[in-house]
Amino acid sequence: MKLRSPFAFDDELHPRWASLLRWVTVALLLVGFLGILGYAVVGDHKLRGSLLTLHRSAGLAVLLVTLLRIVTLPAQRYDQASRSRGLRIVALASHAVLYLALIATPLLGWALTSARGQTALFLGAIPLPSILQSDGALAAELQQVHRLVAGLLLGCIALYAVTLGWHRPRVRDGSRWRWWLPLRRSTDSP
Ligand code: HEM
Repeated sequence: MKLRSPFAFDDELHPRWASLLRWVTVALLLVGFLGILGYAVVGDHKLRGSLLTLHRSAGLAVLLVTLLRIVTLPAQRYDQASRSRGLRIVALASHAVLYLALIATPLLGWALTSARGQTALFLGAIPLPSILQSDGALAAELQQVHRLVAGLLLGCIALYAVTLGWHRPRVRDGSRWRWWLPLRRSTDSP
């Protein structure tokens, strides 16, 4: 049985550009998390400001790429990911939760920035309009929610990566989806 890396670009189920968009999202999330991590540990005021701008820019780029991925969803053939209707529903539902978190987290960060009375600069240069009035108490609440949803997003991604790494090679080697139904495997095998 020939197993292939679950992280390869070449994929018979999804177009190559869809994989590319997925990995761009992962890279942006990584930059965003490293940015906020650096912001939390660095002491220098100017550097902290730059790291927060990096965090916001990466987060806003995640929002843009996610919207692009949603618009192009019909071309990504998730509806053909399995012959099993149940598994197709599970795949669609888990993608819906993931996309929701990918949209909610940056929007909450944007709202938090506005509630703090600050202006988020996309790529350090393009000012974003405020989406909320300045309100210190609301900002404190939004920070908690932003942190919580970001944690949920991280959990979803970890779960997604584990699931992908586990079943994807089996999907690719021709024994599609048999891994989850041992009974079927025994009746299908010669
Ligand atoms: C997918 C995108 C994003 C993720 C995963 C994310 C994640 C996080 C995390 C984990 C924190 C630390 C929370 C804490 O410990 O209090 C944080 C803080 C923050 N984020 Fe985001 N964020 C994202 C997008 C954004 C965007 C788009 C903006 C603004 C436009 C933003 C603005 C902020 C601000 C202002 C803070 C608080 C920094 C501080 O403590 O002063 N975030 N974010």
